[in-house]
Amino acid sequence: MSELDELARRRGFFFQANEAYGGVSGFYTYGPEGAALKRNVEETWRDRFVTREGNMEIDAPTVTPEPVFVASGHLDGFDDMLVECAECGDSHRADHVVEDNTDIEDAETYPTGKVEDIIAEHDLACPSCGAPLAGQSVDEFNLMFETSIGPGSGQPGYLRPETAQGMFTEFPRLKEYARNQLPFGAAQIGAGYRNEISPRNALVRAREFTMAELEYFVDPEGEGPDLSRVEDVELPLYPAGAQEADGEEYLHLTPREALDEGVVGDEWVAYFLARSKAWFERVGVDMERFRFRQHLPGELAHYASDCWDAEGEVDGDWIELEGVASRTDYDLSKHSEHADDTFTVFKQYDEPKTVERATVDPDMSYLGPEFGGDAGAVADALEALAARDRSAFDGDEVTVEVDGDEVTVPTEKTGFSVEEVTESGRHIVPHVVEPAFGVGRAVYTVLAHNYDTDEVEGETRDVLRLPAEVSPTTVGVFPLMDKDGLGDTARDLAADLREAGLSVTYDDSGNIGRRYRRQDEVGTPYCVTVDYESLEDGTVTLRDRDTTDQVRVDADDLGDVLRSLRDGDREFAEL
Ligand code: GAP
Repeated sequence: MSELDELARRRGFFFQANEAYGGVSGFYTYGPEGAALKRNVEETWRDRFVTREGNMEIDAPTVTPEPVFVASGHLDGFDDMLVECAECGDSHRADHVVEDNTDIEDAETYPTGKVEDIIAEHDLACPSCGAPLAGQSVDEFNLMFETSIGPGSGQPGYLRPETAQGMFTEFPRLKEYARNQLPFGAAQIGAGYRNEISPRNALVRAREFTMAELEYFVDPEGEGPDLSRVEDVELPLYPAGAQEADGEEYLHLTPREALDEGVVGDEWVAYFLARSKAWFERVGVDMERFRFRQHLPGELAHYASDCWDAEGEVDGDWIELEGVASRTDYDLSKHSEHADDTFTVFKQYDEPKTVERATVDPDMSYLGPEFGGDAGAVADALEALAARDRSAFDGDEVTVEVDGDEVTVPTEKTGFSVEEVTESGRHIVPHVVEPAFGVGRAVYTVLAHNYDTDEVEGETRDVLRLPAEVSPTTVGVFPLMDKDGLGDTARDLAADLREAGLSVTYDDSGNIGRRYRRQDEVGTPYCVTVDYESLEDGTVTLRDRDTTDQVRVDADDLGDVLRSLRDGDREFAEL
């Protein structure tokens, strides 16, 4: 167990769930400190990506019926490479076995057959028992947890592997709430589930984890973001080209420069990279150990045309904390094809335009006998195809997909025609730019980057230098001793500070030095001591975690002082 995992468990940040029953890999419980830290991290995310951007937040179910994932492509393509050991039966991510034991860094982008060959050529062994893996097949393994909705055989469903689909399937309503105006964003913070082949590094690769995702719907021909709002942000960029050339040099560019130099291809992506960097810095990720790495072409998810991962370095490994992906119109187009609703937005022209429109008027006396109950669906599919791709009607036959099956119709029976019409606007499928964060990975990295050991008064101390805004507890309140009324005064003070909306812990056990150490170790930025002087003049000692400096503050002002320190409106040195 790493030092961090040990601290996390001992001090109640996170630990393996259900240990009383032996525990299952990939599931973690956040303890009191961790749950508070995670909640604060989520609140800052909500503040940045929902409130300050003027976006909407939703809360969709985590159990999702199968057709959604047929449409989204997850049922077919949300796979990792699995290799099983013939000797001990353990399962492993085949690409990780390759990456951990060879110079190859992007095995994830290779086809399974090639990974099989590499395992054999390098004589790679099972990480659990050391038996050779050569000759074992490498298979695609779908990461979704399957379930059955309702009694009996039920309806097949899956625990969502991303919150994103909630925003896509509800798009027909969300666009109404946005008054059909692009761009707009819909966000969600909630659980995602992936049946990871080999969960590892605690919160880093879990089977249930919290995601914070923003789906930003834009008109691909519309205006971009106001980049002047992020003009001062310098992005540490590691483009695909530099990775392929085996370079480790990062470009340091503003969003505008990155766009002008063609390093980042999309204005919204550049904008959200800048917003993301500022957020990571705010919650305590060390900017010296942070970068944006572009996906290599073979690494892209099935829905993405480009993606930049925010990565943080921990113990020599780069952890993916967020992906900022261009999902183009992939998702909304797929749901348009599969669902009974409209996933477009009507875009009004400045002036009405005369345009050519392709339509169909299918011969139902042919479709009816030929396709029976599916005839209506075939007609709808023909109409959608005419609007999308009129060249599909150039030949003698037209092929469309209905309920996952391809059907062919003679073109003469489709009533296809192109006519001139005057339009006041047109329906467009918005494109999506998606900043998708793993909250657990952010929490883990923040803990790793802020865990420090230093020396105070000749003694070694462990200290978590968390930003005050996300610290689980803002202030520890101690009486010098629990006698002569000091304890009662301190307890009253703690109650008053809680009433004032601060997160407070009260501690009267052990000597003051030990109490300070306990709070330092869980990241409490400030501690207050009530002493005999407090009884006389109403002042208390306020101590800063990072410098261990102390000042005397009037107890009546303490709530305001602590709030302003926590919110970054004031520095401790100014007191
Ligand atoms: N909707 C886009 C999407 O799901 P992703 O890169 O697969 O993209 C988003 O996931 C983020 O979720 C990742 O950047 C990572 O921080 C986090 N994540 C993914 N798998 C995870 C796992 N098994 N355990 C913890 N966090 C994970």
